[in-house]
Amino acid sequence: MTPQSMLAAMLPLVADLARQIPPSERYRRLLDAVRRLLPADAVALLRLDGDALVPLAVDGLAPDTLGRRFLVGQHPRLQALLQAAGPLRFAPDCGLPDPYDGLVEHVHGHLPVHDCMGCALRVQDRPWGLMTLDALALSRFDGIDMAALQSLADLAAATVAAAERMDDLALRAEDAQRRAEQYRRAAGSERARRLVGRSAAHRALLREIALVGPSDLTVLVGGETGVGKELVVQALHAASPRAGRPLVSLNCAALPETLVESELFGHVRGAFSGAVAERQGKFELADGGTLFLDEVGELPLAVQAKLLRVLQNGQLQRLGSDREHRVDVRLVAATNRELAAEVRAGRFRADLYHRLGAYPLQVPPLRERGRDVLLLAGSFLEEQRASLGLGNVRLDADAQQALLAHAWPGNVRELEHVLARAALRALGRHGQRPRVLSVCAGDLGLAAPGQPPAAAATPAVLPAGTVPLRQRVQAFERQAIEQALAGHAGNWAAAARALDMDRANLVRLARRLGLAVPARNGRSAPAG
Ligand SMILES: Nc1ncnc2c1ncn2[C@@H]1O[C@H](COP(=O)(O)OP(=O)(O)OP(=O)(O)O)[C@@H](O)[C@H]1O
Ligand SMILES: [Mg+2]
Repeated sequence: MTPQSMLAAMLPLVADLARQIPPSERYRRLLDAVRRLLPADAVALLRLDGDALVPLAVDGLAPDTLGRRFLVGQHPRLQALLQAAGPLRFAPDCGLPDPYDGLVEHVHGHLPVHDCMGCALRVQDRPWGLMTLDALALSRFDGIDMAALQSLADLAAATVAAAERMDDLALRAEDAQRRAEQYRRAAGSERARRLVGRSAAHRALLREIALVGPSDLTVLVGGETGVGKELVVQALHAASPRAGRPLVSLNCAALPETLVESELFGHVRGAFSGAVAERQGKFELADGGTLFLDEVGELPLAVQAKLLRVLQNGQLQRLGSDREHRVDVRLVAATNRELAAEVRAGRFRADLYHRLGAYPLQVPPLRERGRDVLLLAGSFLEEQRASLGLGNVRLDADAQQALLAHAWPGNVRELEHVLARAALRALGRHGQRPRVLSVCAGDLGLAAPGQPPAAAATPAVLPAGTVPLRQRVQAFERQAIEQALAGHAGNWAAAARALDMDRANLVRLARRLGLAVPARNGRSAPAG
């Protein structure tokens, strides 16, 4: 790299700083310049988000890398780079695992990364993220002048600062998600997830969330099963001024009719036999925050009437109490049913439908989100990697093609389950725990068009000691259900009898396991 070549590569980037360019294009140009200047096989720009590094742009790495989150605590190389005072190059024998092993593109087999360096980026004197460079050959970076790399890093920092300022709206949505994450952590829920995606349909959804979230409108979130309605509701709450207050969920499908009033409104001691202590209802718990009515389309008509009464006068009364009080609650509801059709069929009250649907928000099915499938796959494989304790999990090119070609009737949930199974199958194929686990198309078990899914490929007996018990049990449950269905020509009632289960419970379990389930009204329906 001569001073002239460096100047020639950097000047256009400097000129770009003042232009209005989409952030993704800005980052692409930056990484392009870096690769022209330095002999790297892969470069990546990662932004620090809490305790994780999130790739914003990659060049030379598998596309699903963009959907991953690298927890800094789990990747010692990334941690070292973040802590170093300047650019850092790792000795070839340093022995620390490389986060990109197996993710470098156009490489057959698992050639590990051999020469690796990077530097931290700071924006307004605060750590912003990292730029990393990897080469597959030893000593590839021998001649690199570290001072020149530092200049490149400074320019990269200016680039990302410009991109951030110009992408105001996207930032607001992400800020909302960060708040949601903090809130979920504070609330102690098991997993904090963000909405992964970059497609036009996904971005339109984020824009709508940023628009309606801060208002006090009742939102009715619709969309097929497994599209992410629950995550959308969390993002709506996080984008509202109520974000610091509770988001309380009520699953309407699991609400016994006899308990509905005490669930919603609470009761005083002795209000009915069994009411041994005073209890707050969901409305009170959500005071100042958001009440989320999930699967609202499943509410029996009698309960719909009770709910409507409270919504109309805003007053509630604990069972057994004569005191009435007001609560300040924002309502958000979700359903995978076509509520308008349910109203026409007489299964849902028109007045409640209008009361809930002040702002209808439709979450698009996965098949309309293009290459988001790969980003989502990357984020789920990263979770698998962590839970299986592997160095890395990658997708073969044929697996990427198969994911892009599949129609995903069960949407994101189906994708999540397919990948969890695929990682287990891939692990089952290997005798020993590999450093980089490759998932191939066969592991996905996705049916070719017109063929039934490859149920038999699920290994019920997974290698002992390599897989957490819960996942082994789930794999077994899935296989038992698939076999029972296959043995009864797909008849759920018959399969449930064979398994000595109630049909509704079987369908609920199957949905939780990511299997295709029938709709309640008998229509053949999406998987989930
Ligand atoms: N954009 C996304 N990014 C990351 N994960 C997602 C996304 N969308 C959905 N998921 C994940 O997919 C799974 C299904 O999402 P969710 O439960 O929100 O679906 P749903 O629309 O409520 O489905 P149902 O109608 O069956 O209740 C969850 O594990 C969720 O975390
Ligand atoms: Mg849901």
